[in-house]
Amino acid sequence: MSVSDEFIEDKATTAHDVVLGVCHEANAAESQRRRQQCVDRGIASLYRWYVARSQPSRQWNADTDFRWKEIRRDLPEDILAIVQGFYAVEQFIPDYAAELTGLLRKNYGRSQFYLKWGSEEARHADLWQNVLLASGYRTLPWLEDYSRELRSRSWELPFDDPLEMLIYTVLQERATQINYARLRTAVSQCGQEGCHDPVLELAAKTIAIDEVAHFEFFLSATILHLYYFPERTLAALARVLAFFEMPAVTIVPDYEPFIEALYRRGLFGKKIYYAEVFKLICRQFGVSDVRKLDNCVKASRTTQLDAAGLPLHPSQIFDFETIQETVISLFQRLGRFEQEAGIYEMFQTELIPFDWGKAE
Ligand SMILES: [Fe+2]
Ligand SMILES: [Fe+2]
Repeated sequence: MSVSDEFIEDKATTAHDVVLGVCHEANAAESQRRRQQCVDRGIASLYRWYVARSQPSRQWNADTDFRWKEIRRDLPEDILAIVQGFYAVEQFIPDYAAELTGLLRKNYGRSQFYLKWGSEEARHADLWQNVLLASGYRTLPWLEDYSRELRSRSWELPFDDPLEMLIYTVLQERATQINYARLRTAVSQCGQEGCHDPVLELAAKTIAIDEVAHFEFFLSATILHLYYFPERTLAALARVLAFFEMPAVTIVPDYEPFIEALYRRGLFGKKIYYAEVFKLICRQFGVSDVRKLDNCVKASRTTQLDAAGLPLHPSQIFDFETIQETVISLFQRLGRFEQEAGIYEMFQTELIPFDWGKAE
């Protein structure tokens, strides 16, 4: 029997037994192991899809795909201070990639993805660096000193649990995407101030599209966890929402003026966070009662909640049908991709249904 035959046989028995194992709850530990396998295989397949479909549609180069000689030399100072802040936050990519890959190195799909993700994030720093230099806002020696100072500090994981870090990246990628998309809008509407700049607009748009792709990957991976491990995911979500702050807040030396400019220009703020990050994520997670979720978040601020200590069952907060529909369409997409690529026989990625009534 070849390795792939063994795998397929294991897969076939697994698909059958997970449904039975969960419905009859014959063995809780075995049920958990198999649900974890469903999550891991789903994410590994999503990673393959990302590399084959998502990444090639966003190939760009920070040096050759932008007309750097045409960028304005009189862009407003606060816009450039914002770009410098974005550049600063993107300086900690080596930490983001190393810390997360280290945390998840045993998990094939997630650690492989973090390497791809890190390489995409690295070009964001290159692009912002080019804006700062080509616009005349900063000189190369100044930026070299600034980068050295930033890189003498290091970013540490805000959460040590892999699931909490996954949810953290969902929030962080969405918030970053909004920052960049709103910068693009600000630059495109800048005609009255005489500062409209197609080069900067294209830079912001290009990075925002990358951030959407990252957000969608992490979101799908989180929804898979929510579907198969609702209580654990609710506890992690509540904790992350309770303590979320953007990365590098405490390690970028000139963070305050950056944030002030960001808020003044309407690129970010508490209202934007609530409407465009929190509410959107609630919709995607099928949150049917925001107040109840909020109660869990409040409880998390004072108590380290775990899956067993939740004040509410996930079905009181999330709409199971919505989550199930999302998971079904994710697996349909992955299955189609595997069929088209001719790898379906190797992986056979398919949804194995789970019933929350028998959860954990
Ligand atoms: Fe980025
Ligand atoms: Fe990103």
